[in-house]
Order: sequence, then C-alpha cells, then structure tokens
Amino acid sequence: MTRSAAQTLNHLEHASESDLDVREDATPVHAADRPDAAWWRHAVIYQIYPRSWADADGDGMGDLPGITARLGHLRELGVDAVWLSPFYTSPQADAGYDVADYRDVDPLFGTLADADAMIARAHELGLKVIVDMVPNHSSDEHVWFQAALADGPGSAARERYLFREGRGEHGELPPNNWESVFGGAAWTRVTEADGRPGQWYLHLFDPKQPDFNWEHPEVRAEFESILRFWLDRGVDGFRVDVAHGLIKEQGLPDTEEERTVMLGHAEHEVVDGSAVGEATAGPAAEKPRIDHTKRSPMWDQDGVHEVYRTWRTILESYGTPDRILCAEAWVEPQERAVKYVRDDEMHQAFNFDFLTAAWTAEDLRAVITSSLRAADSVGAPSTWVLSNHDVVRHASRLGFAPGTPRMNGISATDPQPDRALGLRRARAATALMLALPGGAYIYQGEELGLPDSTDMPAEFRQDPTFARTAGAEIGRDGCRVPMPWSADAPSLGFGPSERTWLPQPDVYADYAVDRQVGVPGSTLELYRSLLATRRELSLGRGSLAWVEGYGDDVVALTNGSSQRERVLVVTNLGPAPVALPQGAHVLVSSAPLLDGRVPTDTTVWASWA
Ligand code: GLC
Repeated sequence: MTRSAAQTLNHLEHASESDLDVREDATPVHAADRPDAAWWRHAVIYQIYPRSWADADGDGMGDLPGITARLGHLRELGVDAVWLSPFYTSPQADAGYDVADYRDVDPLFGTLADADAMIARAHELGLKVIVDMVPNHSSDEHVWFQAALADGPGSAARERYLFREGRGEHGELPPNNWESVFGGAAWTRVTEADGRPGQWYLHLFDPKQPDFNWEHPEVRAEFESILRFWLDRGVDGFRVDVAHGLIKEQGLPDTEEERTVMLGHAEHEVVDGSAVGEATAGPAAEKPRIDHTKRSPMWDQDGVHEVYRTWRTILESYGTPDRILCAEAWVEPQERAVKYVRDDEMHQAFNFDFLTAAWTAEDLRAVITSSLRAADSVGAPSTWVLSNHDVVRHASRLGFAPGTPRMNGISATDPQPDRALGLRRARAATALMLALPGGAYIYQGEELGLPDSTDMPAEFRQDPTFARTAGAEIGRDGCRVPMPWSADAPSLGFGPSERTWLPQPDVYADYAVDRQVGVPGSTLELYRSLLATRRELSLGRGSLAWVEGYGDDVVALTNGSSQRERVLVVTNLGPAPVALPQGAHVLVSSAPLLDGRVPTDTTVWASWA
C-alpha cells in the first residue's frame, strides 16, 4: 500500500465483520525520520547481562570471551548494537554496578584484552557496542573511597563522596531520613581511625555503593577521562546508570516521602487515596495520580543536565558515526524525562512508561502517543523497552491479570504467572514494540520467550534487595538466570561445565536456542522475522498514524516512511478475533491467525495490496 497517512481508507470489506470501518487517522502522530537519519534514531539494541549470557571458562559465571564467541547469535537475530551491563573490576555487591576500577575488567569476566577482542569482533559483525557507565556511585572498594575512609573527617578525599556528621546528641542518627532503593537507611556510619563511630556517608543503593559528590570538579574530570578511556578503545556509546541521581538537592534536606523509589516524585503525594507503594502496572485509571510538582531531593535535580551537556561534547569530538549516551532515568512525567534527550544532551533515554504500561489497548495507545509527542517536542527519537535486568521479564509479567501491581521478583510462594498466556502476550507486545518508530531495546533471552525463574530457593538469591529487606522484596535474580543455548548440554550450553551462578529452572531447556532455530513459529524465529521486516521496511524511521474503526480493545496503526509501503499493525487485546481489511497480506504474526482473523493477544503486521 502506498497511501499517505492523511488519506482516509475506503470502507473495506471483511471476512466476517461487515460493520468494521477501518480509517486511518488524518494526522500522523509522528512524522517519518529522514532516510539518512543517524543510526541510533532507529537502532535495535540488545542488552547482554555479562554474568548470564555465555561462560567460556566453565566457572559458572558468564565472561567476555564467552560473549565474543556467541556474538554470531546477534548477527543472525538482526539487531544493530549490543549494550553490556558492567564488566569492570568490582566486588560484585550489586552484580557489577558497584565499580572499583572503571578502567579495568574484573577477572570474573576476563581482561582488557578480552574487552578489546569483544569490541573488535562485534564491529566485524557490524554490531555497535555500548557499555554501561555507573557515575552515581562507586564501590566502597574504589581507591578514592578507601582514601576517604583512611584520611578522615575534613580531608580532601572525603569531599569526593557525601560524608556528613550524624544528627542526635552524639551523631548517632543519620544526617537525614533518606532511604536506600534497596531497603534500609541510605546512610552508613563509619568507624574512624581512632576506633570511634564517626561520620556517615550517603548511598542511595547498597552500603557498598557510596554516592559520589558531583559538585566536586575532580569527580567530573575523572568521569570525563573514563569516558575517553572507553571511547578510545572503540566503544560506540554508554548506557548511563541512574542518570537522574547524580546531583542532590543543596543541603540534603529530609524528604517527605515515606519510601524512596527510583522515581523523581514523592510517593506520598498520591492524591487519590490509593495505597502508597510500588508503582502499579494498572490501566491509567488505576494508577495513583502523582503530584509531579513535588520533587524528591535525590532524583532528577536540574543540575544533572549540565553534566550530560559536557559529556555530549566529548562524544561529539569523536566525530561520526555518532557515539551515543542513553539515560537510565526513572523520571516522571514524560515532559521531564525528555529533558535528558534534548539535542545537546543524551541521545536516548529508556522509555519506562512503555515498560510499565498495562496490557490494555487504552494504556498502550496512550503511552505510545504520549511517548512520541514528548520525544518529538525535543526532536529526539522515542525508545521502547519491555524487559531488562531490573524487572520481571515481560513473558512473566504479562502472565498476570492487567492491573496486577508491579512486582520486584516472584517467589515460589507468590501467585504464579500463567506461562503460556504470558508468552503469548509477550510475543504480541514485542511485535507491537518492534513496529514502532524510534529505537528499541531487547533484553537477552526475551528472543527465546524466557520467563523469569519464579521458584528460586532463597539461598541462591544475590540481589542485595533481598537481604536488605529480609526477603520482603524478592529482588531481581529471577530475570538474571543464565541463558539456555543447547537443551541437552551441561548448563544448557551456557558454559562447558554444569556450573551456573544462579540455578536454571528445568523448564529453560524447552526455550533453548537450539530448540528454536529454524523452527517455524518459535519465538526466536518470530524475533528474526520481526527484525528483518522492520529493517526492510525502515519501520524504525517511519511515521505512525492511528487506525480507527477497530474498537476499544485493539491497537491498530500504520507505520512507514513516505517513500515506502506503509504497514498495518493490529494488536488485538479483546476477547473476540478481529478481521483484517480485505486485501491485507500478512507479513508477520505473533500467533497463528484464526480463520484469517487476528485472535486475542496477537499482533499482526500486514501490507495492503
Ligand atoms: C541501575 C541498574 C541496577 C543497579 C542500580 C544501582 O538501576 O540498572 O541494576 O542495581 O542502578 O547501580
């Protein structure tokens, strides 16, 4: 079909639904990008969690040589780039997000030479490489923090972190009431050289992750140098961890929040009486309304933007093709979130609103529209993401009823997701995501339809959240289990031995890569088809317009660049199958059609003749 977005489609004949009047919205929600748009504006980026992708040496922990050996999988899959979670020197108190040396590789993962080899191999295969940068905090074993401890109160070394005197008569109370994202106080008191309890230091996460003082010029200079170190080694960009946390409100005032989350709003400001707690994944109507005018003193302070403006100039000094920055910023509302991707700051930011949207057509349409509008307002591409190493995988998340509160991990005693339903919806959700203009992120294993491990015995759990909340928060281990590559091999082909740092559920054998390659209808083959078609039709650069006439339970849109055919995308979230317009030719479908119609929880991409 070569109709323009503005053209109203004629009344179409349908196999079974004579009253279906499919019309394309007159106004595109989002205009097509230029054909020569920079690579990152439409790239599909695959997240590797290095601990869990591939283990070359058999110690049960993934490593860089393992990754290098398996990169062909990504070439076959058809992604543009890979983002690796941290592999730097680290005591691994938070799985590598506690960095002791930003310029070296932890022996668990290999050596700097292994990193170079990995980058070189990826480039040979046409894959760009994005590494994780963790600027909000270091490990407590970082040389700077060790110096801060040794040099004592008032020393220059303490200035690089956030040390304060305690409150109370003897300084026995933390300097303010902030809580750690992982549970418990965000402050830890140190024992000074004389053996007495002394100052406190801030850690928004684990006590082994002290927050840097980003008002300090040496901290800024150090990170600029670290960026150059990796850029010089050839990386194509950085995913910036906790990008909204670097700057704290002057004076570190108490927060009025009852509980600190990663969002830049105060949770107590729920104004409709809903329970205070985790963000919900419910439909818009069920979501607590947040007063966004109240900002947390630790998140999304305006001062962070100056940091990223400087970083952008450093990346730009490396010329083309662009090296990029992607913000992990749990910031609401979207108008504030897109400040991170203004044209002199970062290139991309994760779209967590899409990830947390409920599985309802209403919510999906709303979040797609608002995401594109917000990104368009600053000239940035939107991004889309459904899973990562911090959340329950979407194949499990969507196996619960829409509106189920968002969970931080699932244990054997929790209600269990419906695995078949979750996979069916996950495939439909991914097919919708990959049809959208902008960039997209895929988390390792989702191309296999992997569910979370939902019955991991407590003794295996490593996420600090689990221990810091005495098990009240299950944590993120369930989505971090090592990849199944070969159903019949030791550790399902993860490595040459039986060892895996987290246990693989038995059911993972059914999802192994070798069970899916070349199998029509497998999730892996679905992802390959989606990615190939997306590339062929330039959907990442396309223009999106809503298609009216399908009713409330269906997300229907067209996407395409003006010179090319437009693709009709139909995601049916309602109970009854829906018809495709006459003449529609199915390109990809997330599940088999039913008498030529799109069944429940299915996404179809179709062209019109
Ligand atoms: C980010 C990471 C998460 C980590 C946290 C602290 O949210 O994605 O895994 O625990 O930052 O670094």
